[in-house]
Amino acid sequence: MIHTRICDLLGIVHPIVLGGMGGATSAPLVAAVSNSGGLGTLGTVGLSGAQLRSEVEAIRRATAKPFGTNHLLFEVDEERLSVTLETRPAVASFAWARPDQDLRSYFQRAHDAGCKVMHMAGEVSEARRAADAGADVIVAQGTEAGGHVGWMASMPLVPMVVKAVAPLPVLAAGGIADGRGLAAALALGADGVLVGTRMMATHESPIHPNFKQAIVKSDGHDTMLTEIPDIASGRVWPGAMARALRNAFIERWAGREWALRRDYRAAGKAILEARKNGDADNASLLIGQDAGLIDSVKPAGEIIERMIAEAEEIIKDRLNKLVGH
Ligand SMILES: Cc1cc2nc3c(=O)[nH]c(=O)nc-3n(C[C@H](O)[C@H](O)[C@H](O)COP(=O)(O)O)c2cc1C
Repeated sequence: MIHTRICDLLGIVHPIVLGGMGGATSAPLVAAVSNSGGLGTLGTVGLSGAQLRSEVEAIRRATAKPFGTNHLLFEVDEERLSVTLETRPAVASFAWARPDQDLRSYFQRAHDAGCKVMHMAGEVSEARRAADAGADVIVAQGTEAGGHVGWMASMPLVPMVVKAVAPLPVLAAGGIADGRGLAAALALGADGVLVGTRMMATHESPIHPNFKQAIVKSDGHDTMLTEIPDIASGRVWPGAMARALRNAFIERWAGREWALRRDYRAAGKAILEARKNGDADNASLLIGQDAGLIDSVKPAGEIIERMIAEAEEIIKDRLNKLVGH
C-alpha cells in the first residue's frame, strides 16, 4: 500500500491516475482504472456533447468510484465542458491553455460544480499560473511523455514544479510505466503519477489491437518530437510538439513539413483511414519513450497492482538497504 495526500484528496486507494487521452480512452478503461483503486480519466477530444454524456453514463454504470474528464483549453468546447459541469465527475482535468486564457474562470466553474481541478503543465511558469488560478492538483509532464509535450524532461521538471507550487500536490507524468517510475516520482517529491502510454497497451484500451502491438514492439528509441501529426490534422497547439512513433507516416513528411502544409487535407484523410484499418505504419501513433518498458498487453488492473507492489518493494527493500548501515 502506498498512501499519499493525493489519495485523500481524490478519494482513491492508489496514487495512480490515467491520463485523459483524447481518442485513446473510453468508459471500460476509465472504469477499470477507477475500480482498481486509481483514478480513471476520460479524454473528451473528438466527442460530441451527447457522446460525452453517454460515456459518463457508461462509466457510472461500471463503477461507483471517482473518475475525471479531461478538456483541452486552447480549443475548449463549451458543449463538452457543460456536460462535465452538469455530470460532475470527481475531477475536471485541464491542459494546454493559450497564454491569454483566464484559467481562474474555468477552474472556478469546475469548483462550483463540485469537481476538483487538475491542470497539466510542461513548464514551471504554467504550473505556477495554474496554482495561482486555484488548481487543486498540478500534473508535471515531462517531454518523455506520449502525445503533446513540452521540452523539459521529468527528472528536473518534477522537483522544480513541486517546489514552485508547494504545498499543492503534484503528479509526475511522462515515461512512467511501472513501479520503478512510481518510486522515482515519489522520490522527486511527487504525490503520485499520471500514466498514458502504458494504459494504451491494455485489454480495456479502445485503440486498435495492432496499435497495442506497435507499443509492445517499440523500443522507446523510435519515438520523436514532431509537428507532423498536428499539421496533418490542421490543428495548432500552443507551444507543444507531439511525441509520436517514427513510422512510415512520419518518415514520409519529416523535413518536408512545408509540403505537408500544402497537402494536409489528403494526409489527414489518409491517417484517419489508417487509424480505422489498424495500419500502424501509416497512422499517427502518439506514444511515449516508456513504450520501451512495455512488453505485453495486460488488463489495466494488473498493471496498477504490479506498479504498486514493485514500487513498495523498491522503497522498502532495495532503497531501505542502501541507508543507515
Ligand atoms: C494518444 C495520447 C493522447 C493524449 N491526449 C491527451 C489529452 O487529450 N489531454 C491531455 O491532457 N493529455 C493527453 N495526453 C497526455 C497524457 O495525459 C499524459 O500526459 C502522457 O501520456 C503521459 O506520458 P506517458 O505516455 O509516457 O505515460 C495524451 C497522450 C497520448 C499518448
